[in-house]
Amino acid sequence: MDFPSEPLTVLRQRKTIPVYSRWFGSWRISIDRRAFTTLELRHNYDKAAPLWSRLLHRLSFPSAYEKLLCRALPDDVRSARDKPLRVLDCGIGTGALTIALTRVCSTPLELSGIDLSPRMLELARYNLRDVDSVVSLCQSDVRKLPYNDKTFDLVMTSHVLEHLPCPSVALSEMVRVLRPNGVLLACFTRNSPLGFYVHLKWRIHRMTPAKARSLFLDSALTYARCLPIEHNLLCRQLSLACIGRKPSCERQNEA
Ligand SMILES: C[S@@+](CC[C@H](N)C(=O)[O-])C[C@H]1O[C@@H](n2cnc3c(N)ncnc32)[C@H](O)[C@@H]1O
Repeated sequence: MDFPSEPLTVLRQRKTIPVYSRWFGSWRISIDRRAFTTLELRHNYDKAAPLWSRLLHRLSFPSAYEKLLCRALPDDVRSARDKPLRVLDCGIGTGALTIALTRVCSTPLELSGIDLSPRMLELARYNLRDVDSVVSLCQSDVRKLPYNDKTFDLVMTSHVLEHLPCPSVALSEMVRVLRPNGVLLACFTRNSPLGFYVHLKWRIHRMTPAKARSLFLDSALTYARCLPIEHNLLCRQLSLACIGRKPSCERQNEA
């Protein structure tokens, strides 16, 4: 379950998701699982897309996302400002997190979303048709975002990073496109019995608050803190969120 502290070049080549790891004296027993390839993930989410919104509503995730954003987003993000807030949702799915944002923000928004799955994007486009903001969606991989450095004020991602053998590669890409002092919010599948059930189907990492926070801190995000997703017992058991800021003065690359 640990994210190993291997160099990034080694991590980039990882193709597996750690499932279990324990030391017995000098022995370490570990079980890893082959992650889905990008093609498999795209195919699986294309197949899941028609039922995705219904599943989220059944689990009350749309309301849970609204509550989370109300609690988590700092005032400078939610309140009115002159320029539209530039937002990117990485792995937007059918648009649930972005729609929740439009309900809790009083500020004008300029919304972008990317996803691997064309079917998910089609549904996101449909679900966002009545939103009173500029919306731009494109098919892309979160590990190689098609945006310039320092483009967005807020980058969000929900239940996407855990699919990747090395989540920190995607997280550093999100930090790259975030402007200094911008906010990054991520939701993860939790390390819980329900999380294990999700792992069985989707081969994902399961995150503890400490792991999520250290993933953020390793990506040079500051003020990283974890929050439960509190709407109901299911959401709380399934997910947790982590929020942080890109420092205003970027640290020198120590590598
Ligand atoms: C569990 S769904 C979550 C969707 C949405 N964020 C939500 O909360 O409902 C994961 C989404 O991430 C997308 N995804 C998975 N791996 C991705 C990658 N490497 N790049 C972009 N999108 C990815 C999938 O296609 C899918 O739409």
